[in-house]
Amino acid sequence: MLAVFVLAFQHAVAHGVQVADVVLSCSYIEEGGGMTGSHFIRSPATVVLKDLPMNSDFSPETITPYIPPVTPNPDDLIFETTTSSVEIPEAESLLHADCNEQEVICELSSYIPRGAKSDSVPAHFIASVQLEGGGVGFTLVLQAMSNEEAESKAASLMQSKLQLPLSQWGTLITDAVFVVFSRAPSIAVSIGQDIVLDCGYRQRDTPTELNLGLEWRWQYRGHGRTILDMKETAAGTHVKMDRNETSANSTLLVREGNASLTMENLKVSDEGTYICTITSEPFQTQQIVQLNIIQPPRVFFTENKITFPDESPKRLSCHCDRYYPLDVKVEWFSQLPSETENVSLTDESSLSSHRQNSDGTYSLSSFLIVHPSKHPIGTVFTCRVSHFGLKTPSDVNLTVLTPEPGQLASLVENYWVILLTLILSILFLYQASR
Ligand SMILES: *[C@@H]1O[C@H](CO)[C@@H](O)[C@H](O)[C@H]1NC(C)=O
Ligand SMILES: *[C@@H]1O[C@H](CO)[C@@H](O)[C@H](O)[C@H]1NC(C)=O
Ligand SMILES: *[C@@H]1O[C@H](CO)[C@@H](O)[C@H](O)[C@H]1NC(C)=O
Ligand SMILES: *[C@@H]1O[C@H](CO)[C@@H](O)[C@H](O)[C@H]1NC(C)=O
Ligand SMILES: *[C@@H]1O[C@H](CO)[C@@H](O)[C@H](O)[C@H]1NC(C)=O
Repeated sequence: MLAVFVLAFQHAVAHGVQVADVVLSCSYIEEGGGMTGSHFIRSPATVVLKDLPMNSDFSPETITPYIPPVTPNPDDLIFETTTSSVEIPEAESLLHADCNEQEVICELSSYIPRGAKSDSVPAHFIASVQLEGGGVGFTLVLQAMSNEEAESKAASLMQSKLQLPLSQWGTLITDAVFVVFSRAPSIAVSIGQDIVLDCGYRQRDTPTELNLGLEWRWQYRGHGRTILDMKETAAGTHVKMDRNETSANSTLLVREGNASLTMENLKVSDEGTYICTITSEPFQTQQIVQLNIIQPPRVFFTENKITFPDESPKRLSCHCDRYYPLDVKVEWFSQLPSETENVSLTDESSLSSHRQNSDGTYSLSSFLIVHPSKHPIGTVFTCRVSHFGLKTPSDVNLTVLTPEPGQLASLVENYWVILLTLILSILFLYQASR
């Protein structure tokens, strides 16, 4: 499943722009019939993206050049792909992936353009390239050389699996003809924010008539629906939407290949996988954008102060309010005024159950019983909350204070009331027993 990224590069400064060859280790996937029903067969393959334009900030000496095999092997699957007619934006993130030890997932399979027969020439392939942990993601349609072109180049060797002519150095020469990409295929946002889900496409040959489709579909845990469905024809634009405060710009879609989806006022229920599908005859391809909602908790004590007016224990409640996703960790510490080290009290604490709020966020409380005998005045209690949305855990403190004179006075008053009641009761009993 995972392709280790090998990487390479060539030279060259063409028209003042640095270019590099990027070599990807991929899997070629075929549906295998077989006795037990359909399953997939994976074969190792290589995709060499030729002459990708690069930002100036990369240093060629850090990169090992790509060297084709010395003796062409008809069993090798090496797709040598020119990308000059469809620009893959931010392709340099592929080069950085190697340095950042990011995994690159590259999968290839055969592709049949719409309206074409399965054995039609030239053959087409589709490659999906995704970087784990950020960077560009794209799905690329490759067109193989037609047999005539190959014959004119007097290719003699045929690739054994695909029965397609190989170049003299044993590669399948292909041209990128269509790409759907996202420069931000995974994003995390908090509730109420507005975002743009990035998606775009490029096509080598402009179709003769305008017939363009954009669909944004949302999927989450087995549920799914089409959020936006846009059709562009000579007759005009037709849009269907299934989310308020959502839009795509049809002018940008047609003129710039920009299929981005703008969503305002995000809610927990917007979390999920968004599939951007572009239909531009004769191709239809998609790219996934993952949207995660991350809302850090607000952390506070329900009590605004703590005192021990008498010997009875007190309960502290630390509240984590309106967070998402569900996982949250609460820890307790106490620090005596005389000590430099703290004591963990997490094991003595208890948790309420999660409550789900109407906006989909969660709330939770943690409780700790504290005793005046163990926690003298000046003790600092800390409630520490860790959550995916917090860069560092959130601490709140509560210090044991001297009981206020009012509290003491009332205690003294109580004392007198009790004593008086007692005396009266004794007198009463004494009277009654006579
Ligand atoms: C599309 O347009 C939006 C809004 O102008 C912009 O933020 C975004 O970067 C563009 N995306 C692509 C893929 O061109
Ligand atoms: C859009 O907003 C209207 C009015 O606030 C509401 O009735 C409708 O259900 C909303 N539609 C969706 C898809 O959320
Ligand atoms: C679409 O984008 C174009 C170019 O940026 C802009 O002029 C136009 O106002 C946008 N249309 C809408 C409906 O936002
Ligand atoms: C308590 O001590 C532990 C271990 O030294 C430390 O990790 C933790 O941050 C301290 N807690 C507080 C609230 O300072
Ligand atoms: C809370 O108390 C701990 C331990 O006494 C201290 O290290 C920390 O700075 C305090 N934090 C806040 C936010 O007051």
